Amino acid sequence: MAATPETVKKFTALGAAMAVEKGAGEGASISDADYEAAGATLGTRDATLKDADIVLGVQGPDPDSLTGAKPGAWIVAGLNPFGAGENGGRARVDAYAAKGYEALAMEFMPRITRAQSMDILSSQSNLAGYKAVLLAAAEYGRAFPMMMTAAGTVSAARAFIMGVGVAGLQAIATARRLGAQVSATDVRSATREQIMSLGAKPIFVESVQGIEGEGSGGYATEMSEEYQKAQAELVSAHIAKQDIVITTALIPGRPAPRLISDAQLATMRPGSVIVDLAAESGGNVEGAVSGETVVRHGVKIIGAKNMAGTLAADASALFSKNLFNFLSAFWDKDAGKPVLDEEIGNAVRLTQGGKVVNPRLLG
Ligand code: NAI
Repeated sequence: MAATPETVKKFTALGAAMAVEKGAGEGASISDADYEAAGATLGTRDATLKDADIVLGVQGPDPDSLTGAKPGAWIVAGLNPFGAGENGGRARVDAYAAKGYEALAMEFMPRITRAQSMDILSSQSNLAGYKAVLLAAAEYGRAFPMMMTAAGTVSAARAFIMGVGVAGLQAIATARRLGAQVSATDVRSATREQIMSLGAKPIFVESVQGIEGEGSGGYATEMSEEYQKAQAELVSAHIAKQDIVITTALIPGRPAPRLISDAQLATMRPGSVIVDLAAESGGNVEGAVSGETVVRHGVKIIGAKNMAGTLAADASALFSKNLFNFLSAFWDKDAGKPVLDEEIGNAVRLTQGGKVVNPRLLG
C-alpha cells in the first residue's frame, strides 16, 4: 500500500482529503475500518479517483484506469520507466503524458542526504535483502549455524553476497545473524569497510581498479572488459566453496551485470542455493528466471521477484512513509498542495504538460 492509516492521518493533518479504494489494504493486513478511523473516505476505485489531484500507488497504475482524476493530476509511485511488461516501460510513460498526467517516478529520487527518507529503493531493498536470506535458508537442505551435538558437528554454511548496496548490506547482516560464515564483494571501494564492519570478509578484484569511493550518486556503472575478466576469475576461485549466494548487483537504466556463468555454477556443491535479487532486471546469474526457481547442476537458483511484497505490512509502512516524507517536505500551505523544488522535482518528474520531460528518458 502507498498509504497506511498512519500516513492518512499525517496527510489529513496537512489539509489533504484522503480517499482509499475499498479492500485495497487487505494484502498488507490493513482493514478498511483502520483507514476510516484514520480519516480516509473509502469507496470504489472510480469514487476514490474522482477529482483526485494526487494518486499514490506502489506501482504505476494503468493510465486508462485513472478516469476521473483531475487533468494534470500527479501520479506518485514506482513507475519503472526502464522496465518492460505491463507495470512499466516507456510506452506507459508516453501514455501518462498523452493523458496529461504529471508522472513522478519515486525510484528516480536523487541519492542526496535530504532525500534519504524519501527513497523507496532503499526502504524496499533493505527488506528484499533480509527476505532473500530467509528464502535461501528455507530452501537449503542444511543448517546455517555451526552446531556441535552429541550426534556430531554440523558445519556453518558459507554465504557469499555479491553487490553490497542496501539489499546486500542487509543480506550480510541477516546471514550473519543466522550463523553463516559470510563473504561479500562489490565494485565500489567504499563497501569494503562496510563489509568488514558487519563481520564479513571482503572479496575484491585487486588487479584492476574498481569504482573509487561510493561511485557517482551512490551508483555503479558498467565495468570495463578487463575488470569483468578479473572479476570472473575471482568469482571462479571463490564460488566453488560457497553454499549460499545472494546476488543484488544493479546498474541504473541498464540490464543487471552477469556475475555468475553456467560454468561457474557447475563448480558449486549440489544442494547450494542462489537467490538472484536482480532477476527482474535480467539477472546476475546465467539461467535465473524471474519469479521461478530453477535447478542447474544441482544448484537451486531462485529468481526473486517482488521480495518486498512478501513482507507487505512492513513494506507498506516504509513505502508510504517515503511518499509522505517526499510530499510533506514540499507542502505549500497557501497552495494547499506540494510544490516541488528544482533539484528533486526535475529528477523524479517524467511527464508534464503532455510531454515526457525527464532527461534520463530523453537520452
Ligand atoms: P544498487 O541497487 O544500484 O546496486 C546494488 C549493488 O550492486 C551496489 O552496491 C553496486 O555497487 C553493486 N554492483 C553493481 N555492479 C556490480 C558488479 N558488476 N559487481 C559487483 N557489484 C556490483 O545500489 P543501492 O543498494 O541502491 O545502493 C548503492 C549506494 O547508494 C549505497 O552506498 C547506499 O548507501 C547509497 N544510497 C544513498 C541514498 C541517499 O543518500 N539518499 C539512498 C539510497 C542509496
